[in-house]
Amino acid sequence: MKENVDSIDSKIIERANALRQALHHHNYRYYVLDDPEVSDAEYDRLMRELMGLESEYPELKTPDSPTVKVGAPPLNRFESVAHSVPMLSLDNAFADGDILEFDRRARKNLGTEDKLLYTAEPKMDGVAVELVYEGGRLVMASTRGDGFTGEVITENIRTIRSVPLVLKGDGHPVPERVEVRGEVFMEIERFKALNTARVDRGEQPFANPRNAAAGSLRQLDSAITAKRPLDIFFYGVGNMAGVEIDSHWETLCLLKDLGLKINPLIRPKIELPQVLEYYREIAEIRHRLPYEIDGAVIKIDSIPFQRQLGAKSRSPRWAIAYKFASIQETTRIERIEVQVGRTGALTPVAHLQPVSVGGVTVSRATLHNEDEIEKKDIRVGDQVLVQRAGDVIPEVVKVIPSTRTGKETTFEMPNDCPACGMQVVRAPGEALRRCNNAACPAQRKARIRHFASKGAFDIDGLGTKLVDKLVEKELVHSYADLFYLDVTTLEAMERMGSKSAKNLIEAIGKSKKVPFRRFIYALGIRHVGENSARLLEENYRDLAGLMAASGAELEAIEGIGPEIAQSIAHFFGKEKNRETIRRILESGLEITFPEPKAEKKSFAGKTFVLTGTLPTLKRAEAKAMIEAAGGKVSGSVSRKTDYLVAGESAGSKLDKAKELRVEIIDEVRLKELLQS
Ligand code: IVH
Repeated sequence: MKENVDSIDSKIIERANALRQALHHHNYRYYVLDDPEVSDAEYDRLMRELMGLESEYPELKTPDSPTVKVGAPPLNRFESVAHSVPMLSLDNAFADGDILEFDRRARKNLGTEDKLLYTAEPKMDGVAVELVYEGGRLVMASTRGDGFTGEVITENIRTIRSVPLVLKGDGHPVPERVEVRGEVFMEIERFKALNTARVDRGEQPFANPRNAAAGSLRQLDSAITAKRPLDIFFYGVGNMAGVEIDSHWETLCLLKDLGLKINPLIRPKIELPQVLEYYREIAEIRHRLPYEIDGAVIKIDSIPFQRQLGAKSRSPRWAIAYKFASIQETTRIERIEVQVGRTGALTPVAHLQPVSVGGVTVSRATLHNEDEIEKKDIRVGDQVLVQRAGDVIPEVVKVIPSTRTGKETTFEMPNDCPACGMQVVRAPGEALRRCNNAACPAQRKARIRHFASKGAFDIDGLGTKLVDKLVEKELVHSYADLFYLDVTTLEAMERMGSKSAKNLIEAIGKSKKVPFRRFIYALGIRHVGENSARLLEENYRDLAGLMAASGAELEAIEGIGPEIAQSIAHFFGKEKNRETIRRILESGLEITFPEPKAEKKSFAGKTFVLTGTLPTLKRAEAKAMIEAAGGKVSGSVSRKTDYLVAGESAGSKLDKAKELRVEIIDEVRLKELLQS
């Protein structure tokens, strides 16, 4: 009864073609550019629709259909490597029924009536990677790529703190060669701090923690990756030589014993009803987790069963992803407002018809900048898809053009500041327009809000509305004025009871004892986020020293680039800012400084000399490791040398060390010393 393509309704053929094209495009955006245009849920929906059509009309299938591929080919920038066992994707379930059906089919395929045991895991929303350990040493790491071929990112993976470079042998013989698989991710708080720092530096923020993780792994310069707070959980193996294990859970336990991080929320060997319970439990706690998960992965625990079931082209028959309902909704853009930030940057913000997105009412979403608006072709009156990821500011994912009525209007960024009327400028290479009027009321309000915010002075009860009113009533011009407010003045304001007035004055009083880094951050110096403020705190023992520092001096601090250094020097060079700081200090402010850390590093006071070729470490790496532990690396052996680290074909330094009876160690011993 094989149908001929000609006999299929042309509408269906067209639809399949359109879906294929869309999926190819989204694959490219996602896998190659790391810049997806649609949510995963939207992508999954398109994929399911195409898979549905192809299974109903098998003759529609083409050899290049996105349904037979796992992703797009990797870029040529990194070396490629073939995975010895393909890194498959997972089928998705969206309801309990899908899981029951999965279980039923698996038992049918296995020819068993018995209950199956499952191991259930959080589905990490990150980037899949494979690490190869040989003789216990990390020798290679790669991305999943298209599932068959990935990109070699060994150096980048080495930079992740939780990735062991050498496996532990605790109780188990270390497998001669093992391919381990896991998900690289970025914790939400760390992602937010990274984005703040990026915005401070005028760089484009990442859309979400997964993009931040992917972008960080896709760096040709691993020094950049090293600065990104990446983490990893391992969830499986590819090939593993010489070890026979017949349960997935036991595989995970082995990984754990080898020193590889596994997710503590994994629930081993449970029956079907507990699997459904598990899904509900993690759905309940997901918003309290420090990282993003997008569902649960349910795996048949028995490895013989896994082998027996095998895989389809994209996904195994022994595992399924039970995805959470996506936190996206559609709503309408009522108007677009332009906000002026504390550094004068103009940001377009969409005011939305309020809509509940995953239980939180969303009425505004950032549109980032004018290029974004143009790229997404966003118009006032448009029906749009909005999404909220964790605590991140809601954003417009895309327009739904099919709902357009023709009444929508395009939006243009203003040429004048909406708050003060001064002409705005968009500097070449910048995505944002700026108002350069330091007296602009919108900037003043934003600076004061920033000053009172959580990471800064953290003044309880000083919210947006109150700040706006204080500035509008000219009771506060700069943040220094906050410290000169009194109860009488506040009480005289509309809708301000004497109790709230007293509370606010008390809160301001309490904030007067402030750690140095918070003080620096609160000043609102352009490009200086919490991270830079912390670096400055580590490098200056008092405020006067920081205020007198030249750009060149600041730039010498590791982590402070030229742009930040210039900005700091410029800020403190301005008499107006110095005056504001003087006034703050005169109000009785107390800046506290961290206790100087008693440097108790293991290699403190020890001098090392390196010679010959070490088996795994490059000389620069060994040097960095020794220095990080407080040791010194010198170029020549003398009586002051404590250790000579000798590798292959060591020369005269080795002879000299023997002569002077300097202790000679190899790389393995060096690593042991570093660990102890
Ligand atoms: S198992 C054949 N376990 O989900 C088994 N995957 O859609 C495939 N993922 O590429 C993977 N958490 O990036 C597995 N606990 C987990 C996972 C997980 C996240 C990702 C992984 C994979 C994708 C499959």
